[in-house]
Amino acid sequence: MLNIAVLVSGRGSNLQAIIDAVEAGWLKVRIACVISDNQEAYALKRALKHNIPNIFITPNIFFSKSEYEKKIIEYLREKEVGLIILAGYMQIVGSTLLSAYPNKIINIHPSLLPSFPGLHGQKQALDYGAKVSGATVHFVDKGCDTGPIILQVGVKILDNDTEESLSKRILVEEHKILPKAIFLFAEERLTISGRKVHIID
Ligand code: GRF
Repeated sequence: MLNIAVLVSGRGSNLQAIIDAVEAGWLKVRIACVISDNQEAYALKRALKHNIPNIFITPNIFFSKSEYEKKIIEYLREKEVGLIILAGYMQIVGSTLLSAYPNKIINIHPSLLPSFPGLHGQKQALDYGAKVSGATVHFVDKGCDTGPIILQVGVKILDNDTEESLSKRILVEEHKILPKAIFLFAEERLTISGRKVHIID
């Protein structure tokens, strides 16, 4: 069975969606560990509650991003991780982690990429006056939210939407497509050619 690691920084509702899918039995992966760069992350409490090994590693005590990522890699290797999920993880992945896990890191982002990458994707869409936004699951490359897209879903923006109301509706979709993308990866149904991810039937 595929061992996955979930990297988090905060609330962890996407982590919870993965846990729920595993516990429901349709997502056949083992959540081998949760790694947080924030000691206060509620995601760590979710991991504890479900007996998932978890660790807090702060980049602040390392001389460089590379040293920080080497520490993460050491832990990932110990847990025999084959896929890394960034679920609200607030660090940009550096070349050390990327080259240790090429095409084996997946991120969830709250917009229809390539629109509105980076922080506050929902607010960016509202401020821009977009009529549709959504959620994207993609492989991670060296850019910020630029890697090959695995799954996307659109969410209509309503006239009276606030950042909070839109975020809430997008989150519902995030919780569906992230476990689904992990499922497809675990079933070896994803192939990448250039920018395109093909899903094998
Ligand atoms: C989600 O909106 C995700 O798309 C973004 O950060 C948020 C994390 O939420 N990358 P949670 O911690 O999974 O609840």
